[in-house]
Amino acid sequence: MQLTREEERILSDEQGWANRTCMKILVRLGELFGAEKLIPITSAHVSGISYKTLGDAPIEYLRALADANAKVKVKTTLNPQSLDPDYLIRKIPIELRNKQLDILKQFDKMGLTESLTCTPYYLGKPRRGSHMAWAESSAVVYANSVLGAWTNREGGPSALAAAIIGKTPDYGIHKPENRQPNCLVNVKTELRSETEYGALGIHLGKLLRDKIPLIQGLQKDSDQLKQLSAAIATTGMTNMFKAGSITERKETERIEIESSDLKRTIEELNTASGRKPDLVFIGCPHCSHAEMKKIARLVKGKKVKRGIELWVCASCHVRDTAKDAVKQIEKSGGHVLAGVCTVVSWTEKLGIKTIMTNSAKTAYYASTLSKADATLKPMEECLKTALQG
Ligand code: F3S
Repeated sequence: MQLTREEERILSDEQGWANRTCMKILVRLGELFGAEKLIPITSAHVSGISYKTLGDAPIEYLRALADANAKVKVKTTLNPQSLDPDYLIRKIPIELRNKQLDILKQFDKMGLTESLTCTPYYLGKPRRGSHMAWAESSAVVYANSVLGAWTNREGGPSALAAAIIGKTPDYGIHKPENRQPNCLVNVKTELRSETEYGALGIHLGKLLRDKIPLIQGLQKDSDQLKQLSAAIATTGMTNMFKAGSITERKETERIEIESSDLKRTIEELNTASGRKPDLVFIGCPHCSHAEMKKIARLVKGKKVKRGIELWVCASCHVRDTAKDAVKQIEKSGGHVLAGVCTVVSWTEKLGIKTIMTNSAKTAYYASTLSKADATLKPMEECLKTALQG
């Protein structure tokens, strides 16, 4: 890789251990993927925040960086943690809570924003064409495909290294020639709900691997495209899709999506066989303002049934700026949890064995990461199950 003189100086330890370590990570990554240089980024988003998914070993690395005075050079947001500061914090064993708080403390020392969300784009929409280093696969696909920003799918350590250096290696979909669709997808059935968008993503992710599809048959609803983004990244390595007409295109590979493909995918994700859920969960990826308002409208004047929990998860930012909706949901007995989700929290420790959700991604991970069975239904049906009256 061609490094500037300043980058060479960082690599030769002139700016301390933390900067040298981060530069080494970026250079190694760049060499691995054939990058010729580093390019400046406008933001970074770091995943691997939850103690449940992170474990112990990386905490010492984070502490070492923070103690060595590492500081981020660009706006850097954090993915969800394993608990929220109001509800789950009182239910999670104290030793787990303390570990989680320790992780957040290290990030805080390095100057990362305590956004704690997989939807950092609601805190500030990235500019079209801006280069970023985002981890969190759902946000990566959404940013590239819906917002027109440019980011590879980073891992937590490389996103953090990029944040501290303020640059990322120039490879993958940072390069315009790698952002062209190389597969055509014709959705031959009408997509009627966010659940079907999610099912489409789960199905396509397996077929596409890392290809970039041009998909015909999508609506422009950003919340539904958010479900597609999350799901397509769950089962494959695709980092962006394009929506549009495929009639004039000459690309070779063509995939036809029939309603039976979606039906089968949804059936496979429904593992709870109609059993009553312990938890109804909306907010994977974290809710938008529009979703918060919709939930508030649907629960108005009703109460959550005894024996069922209703969790609505959002970023701290959306929770704090959707006050009326939050009030309405909580009045109905639901919990609006900020900065967390079922997948990265310890639902199994709360005795939750069956989760009902409108998110294909959550349903996909239920058996492995949440040790639970799942029911996948659109938001309206999830809330109908959670509510009485
Ligand atoms: Fe976000 Fe958790 Fe889903 S991090 S994308 S709500 S699995």
